[in-house]
Amino acid sequence: MSFLELRAVRKRYGNVAALDGIDLRVEAGSRTAIVGPSGSGKTTLLRIVAGFEAPDAGSVSLGGEVLADKLSFVPAHRREIGIVAQDGALFPHLNLADNIGFGLPRGDLGREQRIADVMHMVDLDLSMLKRKPDQLSGGQQQRVALARALARRPRLMLLDEPFSALDTGLRLSTRKAVADLLAAEGITTLLVTHDQAEALSFADQVAIMRDGQFPQVGTPRELYLRPNDAMIAAFLGDTIVLPATAANGSAECLLGRIRLADAERNGPLQIMLRPEQVVLTRIATADAALGDTVAEVVDSDFGGAVCTVTLRIAGQPTLSLRQPSVEQFEPGCLVRIAVAGEAHILAR
Ligand SMILES: Nc1ncnc2c1ncn2[C@@H]1O[C@H](COP(=O)(O)OP(=O)(O)O)[C@@H](O)[C@H]1O
Ligand SMILES: [Mg+2]
Repeated sequence: MSFLELRAVRKRYGNVAALDGIDLRVEAGSRTAIVGPSGSGKTTLLRIVAGFEAPDAGSVSLGGEVLADKLSFVPAHRREIGIVAQDGALFPHLNLADNIGFGLPRGDLGREQRIADVMHMVDLDLSMLKRKPDQLSGGQQQRVALARALARRPRLMLLDEPFSALDTGLRLSTRKAVADLLAAEGITTLLVTHDQAEALSFADQVAIMRDGQFPQVGTPRELYLRPNDAMIAAFLGDTIVLPATAANGSAECLLGRIRLADAERNGPLQIMLRPEQVVLTRIATADAALGDTVAEVVDSDFGGAVCTVTLRIAGQPTLSLRQPSVEQFEPGCLVRIAVAGEAHILAR
């Protein structure tokens, strides 16, 4: 049995199926990210795990104990689950010490020490303890919210888009710091986000959420390189999707012959590549292609670290893909196309 288990969980609001049969297993000490567009049911799922809502059907268990099913319901305050919301939801009239110590019994011998410990964990200076939340930056406020959730030593940590209000640089550094801290403390964590890069970098396990269901759950690598369908593929990053003909473990397509991840398949199908698998090398003449596919650059759009190169291959329709900007591909130049790794077959 896994540490956290959800089985066939359903929740309706009127005629909206916010959760439509959710199964999930989370191992102790691991980090799972649930990623999906707005309205797909992510917050509803966290609220059911936290105990703010009861499921209509199905069960939730933690550490072998049933938290919710047809017969029983453990209230939120008895679940020992910490939660950090999008806006942090700190108490504006309380200073940091009282915000963090909110759930700890007053007069408890270890209270002050625990507050100091969690301040240290989230890398905030103790000199700030007397400040009110409005005297902190957004990133600091989110770290206080995390410290408050950590203070009671939760068995499970729930994070509902906790970094989305921060701007890019701060979001990356705060996310990394929080991920490292939770891993170091061995705290089982469920993060929900609509940011796919965040999900892929944060988690050991990623669940894609769509219309109250999980169409795919796997490691970040599995989901990115072996998505079940074109929608999941596009949701997780740029894709190149091409018609191809498969035979003997490779696919013949516009880019040449590419090895297939699934060698059993034959005949016409659709393959997917990530743009970073396609390597372009400038060549002087078509003869220099050494048997690889040759393309002509028809457009090049500079965008800093990456540029978008548009290619024409053997007079065929054009293909656009992002490339590192290190080499310059101006319109009219010839390139040799090599593909690294394997092509993934997409379900139609
Ligand atoms: N309390 C509620 N009453 C009615 N509908 C709700 C309620 N909470 C969520 N919903 C609906 O359930 C769906 C999932 O919402 P939510 O879990 O908040 O999605 P997400 O967090 O992925 O944006 C949405 O269609 C939303 O409008
Ligand atoms: Mg939400």
